[in-house]
Amino acid sequence: MIKRPYWYQTAVFYELYVRAFADSNADGHGDLRGALTRLDYLADLGVNCIWLLPTFPSPLVDDGYDIADYYGVHPTYGALDDFKALIDAAHARGLRVIADLVLNHTSDQHPWFQASRRRQDPYSDYYVWSDSNETYSDARIIFLDTEPSNWTWDEARGQYFWHRFYRQQPDLNFDNPAVQEEMFKIARFWMDLGLDGFRADAVPYLFEREGTNCENLPETHAYLRRLRAMMEAEYPHAILLCEANQWPEDVRPYFGGDLADPTAPGDAFHMGFHFPVMPRLYMALRRGDRSPVVEIMQRTPAIPANCQWCTFLRNHDELTLEMVTEAERQWMWQQFAPEPRMRLNLGIRRRLAPLLGNDRRQIELLNSLLFTLPGSPIIYYGDEIGMGDDIWLHDRNGVRTPMQWDASRHAGFSEAETVYAPVISDAVYGYQRVNVAAQISNPTSLLRRMRQFIAAYKAEPALALGDLAFIDHPDRALLAFRRSHERTTLICLHNLSPRGVRIDLPTTHDLLADVTWAEGSMTLPPYGYRWLRVA
Ligand code: BGC
Repeated sequence: MIKRPYWYQTAVFYELYVRAFADSNADGHGDLRGALTRLDYLADLGVNCIWLLPTFPSPLVDDGYDIADYYGVHPTYGALDDFKALIDAAHARGLRVIADLVLNHTSDQHPWFQASRRRQDPYSDYYVWSDSNETYSDARIIFLDTEPSNWTWDEARGQYFWHRFYRQQPDLNFDNPAVQEEMFKIARFWMDLGLDGFRADAVPYLFEREGTNCENLPETHAYLRRLRAMMEAEYPHAILLCEANQWPEDVRPYFGGDLADPTAPGDAFHMGFHFPVMPRLYMALRRGDRSPVVEIMQRTPAIPANCQWCTFLRNHDELTLEMVTEAERQWMWQQFAPEPRMRLNLGIRRRLAPLLGNDRRQIELLNSLLFTLPGSPIIYYGDEIGMGDDIWLHDRNGVRTPMQWDASRHAGFSEAETVYAPVISDAVYGYQRVNVAAQISNPTSLLRRMRQFIAAYKAEPALALGDLAFIDHPDRALLAFRRSHERTTLICLHNLSPRGVRIDLPTTHDLLADVTWAEGSMTLPPYGYRWLRVA
């Protein structure tokens, strides 16, 4: 018998980029000790779990997703003791901590790869080598703007090596049992240190097979189930969150269980990001038409009762448009990325507030959807205060600028002379106006609203656990749905248009305004939203 809910099914997550958060030693880079000093802020915000972006030793070609040593901490972030101190301090405040587990690839500077370049070396089979760059030609290229191929020639070995991301990130060979075992060891090491689980990076690509697109292969699923089995046996408290940028039906198997039996518990990932709904939230809002969201949610299969989706509006990467049609992608680019510099690979490298023209009503509306659609919400650092971005910075760095704490120099992020990236300082999103200190003391600020959302979400289990049923309404600008859980029924209303929308309702209690509305007709203001409990 499954005992619901598990903590992760009703949790609010916070994605924390350590370099951007707080600099404790005035070297211009955020670090683990700095993040530790800001934990009270996160506890007050009300989030339950922090997801730390990679802090491993790395040449930082892919900002730490290119790992050179899985057992350490990059010196600018601190040391292992600092990592441990951060976890302990988070736990002392009732916060859980997960971190990235990068399974698919290492840095080319990792000693395994350097050794693998010699054919006679014990590590020679740790990576995917080939005499031909035509092998696995059905696999797409992900970093389209930079990489012409998934194969790069290595002079030393006299062969090509396989990489799904930057060429400086060779893919590990999961057909090698030693590689499989290394990853178990690494996972154990970090859970021994106290981590509450992992956001497993780029999992669809672990295995390669000729004649396939090398994504979501049965071998990949089998390995990930073994990883879960190990965790279940040795670290039952820890969770696995799946990063698979795939269609909902292709994500479903990552939860494991039995696809034919919806009552069977999941035995692979506890959680999975819902990638396809994310761009559709923006699409529905800009079109003033709920259809894209309704269609993708109706296409989303049920998941085992011990699992949960993770929903998000933005993260540290580009807003990916991989899970939309070509026509939709072109439209999204036109609408949300009119400048070529705003585009990256198949996505848009911008933050939430600038994507929505800094329209407070629309920012709240999308956040309201984040908290009321099924799944555990993840907030990307800085979006809770409506931070801007810097499209002039390289790659995805434009959405990874320093956290804006107050109006002092470098936004209170660092006391260094110069910092790792310029703090946003333009007239609209600049730290002088947009910062935590100003918003904490202002009861009508976005930050205070976000705190309210989080508190209401945590107080009403139907938001996390309820079944979803869309409400039909002649005006397609109204995105309305019921969430039912045990004896509670909620009605969540979202007006995707800049005009009023009328709807007839039974008597309800408004969770955010804390008032009761008698049965009758209600007009939702432009971009208005309501979370209502049916009396
Ligand atoms: C991460 C990216 C990273 C890539 C390769 C992703 O899915 O979110 O930031 O570049 O994996 O590790």
